[in-house]
This record gives sequence, structure tokens and C-alpha cells, in this order.
Amino acid sequence: MVPGIVPWRAALRSRHLRRRLCTAVRRPLVLGIETSCDDTGCAVVDGAGRVLSDVVHSQLQVHLDHGGIIPPIARDLHAQNIGAAAERALRDAGVSLAELDAVAVTVRPGLSLSLLVGLRHARLLARQASLPLIPVHHMRAHALTVRMAAPEVAFPFLTLLISGGHCLLAVAQAPDRFLLLGASRDDAPGEALDKAARRLKLRNLPECATLAGGRAVELLAARGDPHAFEFPLPLSQYRDCSFSFAGLKFTAQKLAASEEQRHDVVASGVIPTAADLCASLQHAVARHLCHRTQRAMDYCQARGLLPDGARRLVVSGGVACNGYITACLRRVGEALGFEVYVPPPRLCTDNGVMIAWKGVELLRVGRGGTRDLDSVDIEARSPIGTDVSQDVADMSLKCKWVKLTGPVAQPQ
Ligand code: KG4
Ligand code: ZN
Repeated sequence: MVPGIVPWRAALRSRHLRRRLCTAVRRPLVLGIETSCDDTGCAVVDGAGRVLSDVVHSQLQVHLDHGGIIPPIARDLHAQNIGAAAERALRDAGVSLAELDAVAVTVRPGLSLSLLVGLRHARLLARQASLPLIPVHHMRAHALTVRMAAPEVAFPFLTLLISGGHCLLAVAQAPDRFLLLGASRDDAPGEALDKAARRLKLRNLPECATLAGGRAVELLAARGDPHAFEFPLPLSQYRDCSFSFAGLKFTAQKLAASEEQRHDVVASGVIPTAADLCASLQHAVARHLCHRTQRAMDYCQARGLLPDGARRLVVSGGVACNGYITACLRRVGEALGFEVYVPPPRLCTDNGVMIAWKGVELLRVGRGGTRDLDSVDIEARSPIGTDVSQDVADMSLKCKWVKLTGPVAQPQ
């Protein structure tokens, strides 16, 4: 057993259940490999969206110890774990390499050193069993995951993707056709939350010691007052769908320093007002995300991009694990007539399942897979789709903001 590798469902350990699941397997059967950042993910998914195995080796603890992700360290850890993770994924699924229809692998965007490890291993497996290789766009995969369990989420739909490295609003029109409405001009929300958690030294609280920064902020925020500290509203003068989290990050760091002084907190101590600060920061992040998403909804309406009567918002990426943020987004959806979908937390953070599923989706529309394995390469930066953010800005839509606290306000 490889340390840190966790099968998704204990049920999959049962040979009996596994055999029953496998007899009903629907083609195509795809192995997904994810190594774009700090999680080594390998999973097998079938054409019905059934997860036959899900193995994630997280590097979180190592990166927490280093105060952030150091690419060569991430690469080495991926290289150490990828072989065992892929083997384990096949074993848990009860299938052999030869029984697969394809190997899907994240090739963009992400850390080059990390992406290369996944691509090389995927090539190796594809070559061994003469399988096609499906190159996958990480952010598009995040957007499609929800369709595994909720096939009613038909194209087109609006998606908000929020993670440690990305923040964007897009319309998904097909598995590999997206319109980009807006993205972050600087940091991603997860990055702002991670840096704030580090500055607040939340790791020194036993209940937060092993948690991702964003999760630690959420935990503390649950017992804090979201209006205790004032945060600026980013980009309020820009009527577009772009985001900015650098200002919120700096404000959190500045407030942490002044609170430390005010309360004489030294060395490894945590300020007594940390819960209030976390709650206020989390609220500010949620408010900014909600405002830009509301404008994106209005833009889709104005341009007729989504079908009347079936307007849907899909939220995914690691920050979508945050219950407060998704509750606020659900309020906006409710007020504007959008159904809001969020995958379970396990599938919001990086994993191999979403990559395998993206492979299934591409195969279904006849767009997946090449046998020319050496033609596939990585791309550290890669837009999710056609950029229409200038059109959004040119429309200069003024919105009447949905209230995020108290009873849900109906827009006029
Ligand atoms: O999607 P992800 O696993 O990796 C990429 O960045 O692609 O997202 C990781 C981010 C981290 O910044 C982490 O702090 C954040 O997701 N995160 C959360 C929560 N759980 C993880 N942020 C807010 N609330 C959470 N519960
Ligand atoms: Zn991600």
C-alpha cells in the first residue's frame, strides 16, 4: 500500500461488489491521469459516469511545510507516486490496461514540470497496451465533472471555476468549446485564502494543522462575524466579469499585522480575532464572486447564450468546496432563475476522475484520442476558449446586486 493513497469508496475494496459493478460497465472505459499541480490523481471511469476507482496522492502536507508549492518538489513527488497510483487505480477498478478504451491525461494548463510527469506516464501506458491518448484541458475537465452524476446539465451552461490557480467565468457550449467571459487579473481566490491562512498562522491551531488554507479559513469563519472587518470591493468601477483578489489578500495581511500589534501577539501565536477576520475575508471573496457571476448571468441573458427555462450555473474547483461561498452563489442563482450545481467536495479539488470523464465526453463526440503519442505535448498556459470578455465589458451592464445576507432579494 502506498502511503497517502486513498481509494474513493471503501465499497470498491469488496471483490463481490467490484465484480457486480464491472459486469455492468459501459463503454468507453477510460483511465484518467492528473498531475497539473500538487495532487497525483488516477481514476477509471466508465461511459455511464460510474467511478470504478479514484486514487489521489495529495502533496498538501509537504507544500504546507514549505509554505507553498515548489515546482521541482511537486515534480519529484509526482514521479515517485504516479506509477503506484495508476496501478492502484486499475486494481481497484478490477480492470487490466488492455481492457481500457483510452488513457486521458491533463496536458494544460498547469505547472510544466508536473504536467510532464503525467504525460510521460500516460504515454508509457498507452504505448504498452496500444491505446489512444486523450489530451485534456484541466479547467474544462473541472467544468464537466458535474455531468457524470447530473446528465440533465446539458450544453450550453454557465460555469464559474474557482481554485488555487484559476478564477474564471465561461459558457460551456460543448466538451471542448467554451466562451471565456472573464478571468482574474491577478491572484486566484484559493491563493488569496491560502496566503491569508499562512499569515494568520492558522496551521498552529490543532484543528487546522493539516488543512488547505481555504478550508482552514472556512472552519474558523464558521464562528466569526462576516461584518467585523471591512474589506474593499474589488473592481467595483469595472462593469465586466474580470476578478481581482490581490487587494483582498493584502487587506487580510495588513489586518493580521495590525491585530497582532493590538493584541500583543508574538511568534507563533494566533490573534484572538482570527475567526472574525476569516469570516470577513470569506464574505468579501464570496461577494466579489457573486457580483461578477451575476453580471455573467445578465450577459448570457442579453446575448441569448443560454436556453430559457434551463439556465444553469456549474461551480467547481477547490474553492467550490466552501459552503459559505456556494450558499451565496445559490442565492444569486435563485434570484436570477439559474439552477446551481456544485460537484461533491471530493470532485471539486483536483482528481483523476474528472480527467477520465472528460476523456469519455470527448470520445462520445468523436473528438478524443490520438495514436500518434509523440504528437501530444504540454502547455503551461492555455485559455479555456474564445475570449469574449471585451464584449462583456463593452456592454457595461449595470446590475442590481442580490443581497447576500438576510432574506433573498428578488431582482426587479
Ligand atoms: O482545484 P484545486 O484542488 O487545485 C488547483 O488550484 O487547481 O484547488 C485548491 C484550492 C486551494 O487554494 C485551497 O485552499 C482551496 O482550493 N480550498 C478551499 C476549500 N478547500 C480547498 N477554499 C475555500 N474553502 C474550502 N473549503
Ligand atoms: Zn484544479
